[in-house]
Amino acid sequence: MNLFDLKDEVAMVTGAGSGIGQRLAIGLAEAGADVACFDLPGQQKGLEATVESIQKLGRKAIISTGDVTQAADLKASVDRIEAELGALSIALNCAGIANAAPAEDMGYDQWRRVHAINVDGVFLSCQAQARVMLPRKKGSIVNIASMSGSIVNRGLLQAHYNSSKAAVIHMSKSLAMEWSERGIRVNSISPGYTATPMNLRPEVAEQVKIFERDTPLGRMATVDEMVGPAVFLSSRAASFCTGVDLIVDGGFVCW
Ligand SMILES: NC(=O)c1ccc[n+]([C@@H]2O[C@H](COP(=O)([O-])OP(=O)(O)OC[C@H]3O[C@@H](n4cnc5c(N)ncnc54)[C@H](O)[C@@H]3O)[C@@H](O)[C@H]2O)c1
Repeated sequence: MNLFDLKDEVAMVTGAGSGIGQRLAIGLAEAGADVACFDLPGQQKGLEATVESIQKLGRKAIISTGDVTQAADLKASVDRIEAELGALSIALNCAGIANAAPAEDMGYDQWRRVHAINVDGVFLSCQAQARVMLPRKKGSIVNIASMSGSIVNRGLLQAHYNSSKAAVIHMSKSLAMEWSERGIRVNSISPGYTATPMNLRPEVAEQVKIFERDTPLGRMATVDEMVGPAVFLSSRAASFCTGVDLIVDGGFVCW
């Protein structure tokens, strides 16, 4: 008996062309799932790399491009998944953006764009996914929030990002409660500092040293370390977990 087995499950991963979403899409396939990889059209190369890795594992994968702020793109993607891969049973919503600006100078457009992608995009993704899962009373949705939804990162000027991630955590709990009696579990994962393209740019090298110093485990997470939590929450091993925010931060929020 393997509680973590995802064989024959069909998954949709947003943000699957890069970073955490890319690794988690492959991680679900390693656990046995077929995976639809959703990202912006500009991430075609990353999406192709994700799909190639999944197919090498002997699982099915499709590329589905669109924008998480557009409900029609998400609906078209879900329709295609159902037609080509089968009944959608797992969703990981990883698409998100981050940037920084002093609150008093931040333009409304900058504020709105972060909230449009990180909050509206996650809500619209959950809505499109749940619309096909609810009638079957079967599904797991995991939204990628951030430890920045629970703490304020010292020195980072990102009131828009932090508040967007707090919204993802509480939205996930709210949806978990709305759908708890209809077979859909909704949880979030809140990564700490993670080594993705966002944090590997030379210009953030000095900042990364501070991230490492401030993390009790003494380093950033690798994207590989997000796979276990994501597979766990998506699998039968977490059948009684809903409304959980799983903080995967090397101990950061303890300090
Ligand atoms: N890297 C970290 O340290 C860290 C820490 C905590 C949380 N997170 C969260 O993890 C998630 C993934 O971050 P990452 O570090 O892998 O970043 P990343 O930039 O490598 O990946 C994000 C992906 O989301 C996609 N995306 C952005 N806007 C989109 C849109 N409108 N529609 C569809 N796709 C869109 C991007 O194209 C990209 O492929 C984000 O939600 C981020 O906030 C990251």
